Amino acid sequence: MSDTQQMPTTTPDAITAAASASFEECPEPRLREIMQALVRHVHGFISEVHLTPAEWSAAIETLTRTGQVTDEHRQEFILWSDTLGASMLVDALDNPLPAGATESTVLGPFYLPGAPLREYGANLAAEEGAGTPAWVHGHVRDTAGRPIAGAELDIWQNGADRLYTAQRPEAPEDHLRARIRTLDDGTYAFVGVRPTPYPIPYDGPVGRMLDRTGRHPWRPAHIHMIVRAEGYRTVTTHIFDDASDYLGSDAVFAVKPSLLREFVTRSADDPDTPPGIAGEWVSVENDLVLAPAL
Ligand code: BEZ
Ligand code: FE
Repeated sequence: MSDTQQMPTTTPDAITAAASASFEECPEPRLREIMQALVRHVHGFISEVHLTPAEWSAAIETLTRTGQVTDEHRQEFILWSDTLGASMLVDALDNPLPAGATESTVLGPFYLPGAPLREYGANLAAEEGAGTPAWVHGHVRDTAGRPIAGAELDIWQNGADRLYTAQRPEAPEDHLRARIRTLDDGTYAFVGVRPTPYPIPYDGPVGRMLDRTGRHPWRPAHIHMIVRAEGYRTVTTHIFDDASDYLGSDAVFAVKPSLLREFVTRSADDPDTPPGIAGEWVSVENDLVLAPAL
């Protein structure tokens, strides 16, 4: 056989087959499966849309820019994952939850670990004018309805200025973020503020994509929480304000009907006004149900 006969062919199918075959000896079966499927789908995508060299260069330029704007404060890759629905798809395909357990949704880029531990009923607004006070309360229970004592709620949210503390280096570090533990009867409460709809960061490559494709960057109003308890599956979730705009067009596809809650308006002279709240406020009842650990 001559050298020429041993040369690989360069038809589109042969290129795809050669790239896939290059992973055949991968010693980790799961990694081999992932890499071969990646090749199959990337090649399939390029062939389907008949991607031109100029379009491929533009895609590489966009990824380069994505890396350049990403640092410890800004995660543009997560924004791509969120705005393409990939974050929610990965979450949806994860182990299904038992019936009744609180559903998960996106983490987003504004979570900062290490929030201060605060007492039951703590006011999370460390600055004046953060927004309409919101008394958020409920139980954490297991799927059989038993209260879970000592469960930890790791909470973060935006205020009337639409911004998270993670976006404002000048804000006190405990502003609108805290960890709260449930009492022996499984109850928890804190004073947050009524969250506002806000645009995800749109001054980078993801914003350009949204703009060029006629999409908006807005998310409906929500409060984030990660709920953890010994022996239970941790859930990363939101409370959505059921009166918010954008519930039907969340830029990151993260709304689940089970997570909508009513924010009930209360007057300043309401007899249930929690200590330290002056003026109009809102209350939100939000029970959480944790699935047993796998
Ligand atoms: C957020 O809810 O904080 C968020 C989620 C996804 C992208 C941007 C922000
Ligand atoms: Fe958010």
